[in-house]
Amino acid sequence: MHDGLAILTSGGDSAGMNPAVKCAVDYAAQKGYETHLVYDGLRGLLEDNIVPTTREQVSGIIHRGGTVLRSSRCPQFYDIDQRRKAYENLKRRGIGKLIVIGGDGSFRALNQFYNDFGVPFAGIPATIDNDIAGTDYCLGVDTALNVIRDAVDSIRDTASSFSRAFVIEVMGRHCGYLALTSALACGAEVCLVPELPYNLDTIGARLKHDIAAGRRYVIAVVAEGTKMGDYLTRWINDSIGMEARLTVLGHIQRGGSPTVHDRIMAYKFAVAAVDALDAGQTHSIMIYRDGTYGRLPIHKVADSKYEIDPALLKLAAPLAC
Ligand code: F6P
Repeated sequence: MHDGLAILTSGGDSAGMNPAVKCAVDYAAQKGYETHLVYDGLRGLLEDNIVPTTREQVSGIIHRGGTVLRSSRCPQFYDIDQRRKAYENLKRRGIGKLIVIGGDGSFRALNQFYNDFGVPFAGIPATIDNDIAGTDYCLGVDTALNVIRDAVDSIRDTASSFSRAFVIEVMGRHCGYLALTSALACGAEVCLVPELPYNLDTIGARLKHDIAAGRRYVIAVVAEGTKMGDYLTRWINDSIGMEARLTVLGHIQRGGSPTVHDRIMAYKFAVAAVDALDAGQTHSIMIYRDGTYGRLPIHKVADSKYEIDPALLKLAAPLAC
C-alpha cells in the first residue's frame, strides 16, 4: 500500500501550474497512489486545507492560468511549531509524499520540512522569472513571454503612430531572462538587465545617430531588477529629445492560458516528479537542461545561482551599449 501523495502550488503563480497538477494527479493515481490536493500553498499545510482528490477538481483546468489550488507566501512556515502542525495534518491523513510546484524558496521550505520530519518531496520548477539554478526552464516562462510579446507589439503601434519612445518594464525579480528574451523577440532598440553592463552614453549616441538617419520611435525593454524604468524614460525624454512614456507591464505577465509549450513541459515535469518519489527519491527537483530532462538534489539547486545562457547574453549585448 502506497503512502498518500499530496500536491501543492506555492509562491508566485505561473501558467503551467494547472496542467502540472492535473497530470501529477492522474499519473499518481494510475500508479496506485491515493492523491490529495493542498489548497493555499504552504499555508494550506499548516491550516489543514487538504482534500482527497476528486475527478471534478482536476478536470477542465489545463487551459486555465494561475493555479486552481491557489498559492501563498507563508512566513509562518519558518516556525518549527507551525511545521509540526503541518506534519501532524499530513500524518493524520496518511500522506507521506509531497509534490511542490513553485520556486526555489518553496523548495527550500519543503527541504527544511523533510529534514525535520522526513516527508519526501519532489519539486517542479514554476516561476515566470526563470531564475532557478540547474534548469533551463521553469513553468510559466513561455506564457509570460507571449504575453509580453503581445503587449510590446501593441505598444509599438502607438510608438510608431506618435513618434514616441516607450520604456517597457517587465518582471523577473533579480533576473533579466524575461527582459532579454522579449527584447530580442520584439526587436527592441534598448534592453537593460542586471546581468549586462550598460552604457547610457553609447546608447544615447547610437539612438541619436539612428534618429538622424530616420528612426521615428524607440522601444526599450528593462528588467524590473535594474530599477531603471523611470530614470531611462526621463533620460530618453531629456537627453535624446524624444517624447517618452513608461509602461510597467506588472501582473498581466503572470496570467493567461498556458501555451502549448507550458502544458507539455508541465506534463513532463509532473510525470518525472511522481516517478522520482516512486523510485524513493526524497528531495529532488525536476530539471530540463541542455535539451534533457533530469533531476537534481535540492542542495545543487538551492546552493547555486542561476546563470543566463551566455549565448543569449551575447545576442542581447548590443542593445545595452
Ligand atoms: O516571482 C514572480 C514575480 O512575479 C516576480 O517577477 C515579481 O518581482 C514578484 O513575483 C511580484 O510579487 P508579488 O506578486 O508578491 O507582488
